[in-house]
Amino acid sequence: MRPLRGRSGMLGHVKRSAGQSTANRGRGRRVGRYTLGARVYDVVSLEWPVYRPGRLAGIRLLRLRPGDRVLDIGCGTGLNFPAMQAAVGPTGAIVGVDQSEQMLARARARVRRHGWRNVDLVCADAADLNGAGPMSVEPMTADPFDAALSTFALSIIGDGAGAWRAAVQATRPGGGLAVVDLALPTGRWAVLAPLARLACFTGGVDLDRKPWRWVARDTSQVTQLSLRGGHIRVAAGSRPHPPAAGT
Ligand SMILES: C[S@@+](CC[C@H](N)C(=O)[O-])C[C@H]1O[C@@H](n2cnc3c(N)ncnc32)[C@H](O)[C@@H]1O
Repeated sequence: MRPLRGRSGMLGHVKRSAGQSTANRGRGRRVGRYTLGARVYDVVSLEWPVYRPGRLAGIRLLRLRPGDRVLDIGCGTGLNFPAMQAAVGPTGAIVGVDQSEQMLARARARVRRHGWRNVDLVCADAADLNGAGPMSVEPMTADPFDAALSTFALSIIGDGAGAWRAAVQATRPGGGLAVVDLALPTGRWAVLAPLARLACFTGGVDLDRKPWRWVARDTSQVTQLSLRGGHIRVAAGSRPHPPAAGT
């Protein structure tokens, strides 16, 4: 565990990476809708009636401890931050990455409101955390995270698989990884499928992606949950340790 000392006190300062203006021009429609909708996201996203149990389950399954340093991929307005703060405490740290400056502006306001001094907000493409391209934020990932999660974002991010790979690489062996994402409800909840489909379409969700499957594929000690009739899928596991030398 390595608290983010030295960066604390930034109060939700938004870092911008080197090639951002180039990347800004290339932003897809998916980010565009969050840019336009950032102001109303917390109200219209059905957080309380529908989606909150999903994010709380994902965070719980990370088994965060005081002092942990956590990466939030596609953090949006920071709806995960209160529960993560409660778990990691003031000696821990949160790094939120999002490609929409407008969503990060809402997140920064949340950080200010709560007076948190251990949150860094990074405006970047989540698929490109490790210095491979123009939006490199290499210093951010120099020290491995104790845990990483993504809630309702991997099915939206253009290169969601790349963002997942970056999150795995940024997490220490044995660290927790969790994904919370969306599918159409089934069983007696299937009657709500048209509404769910509309919500997913409006949010730019690629329903074929099913990113919780990547958790089952790439981590160990996997737990999977299905909430709201299968509309919310939660998966969490640990980053496997590399095989010992000579085995
Ligand atoms: C549905 S919102 C989810 C926000 C937050 N995780 C939550 O649970 O409320 C999806 C977020 O993904 C962000 N996003 C889309 N493409 C991205 C990318 N390539 N890199 C980082 N964030 C991205 C959007 O800006 C938006 O904030």
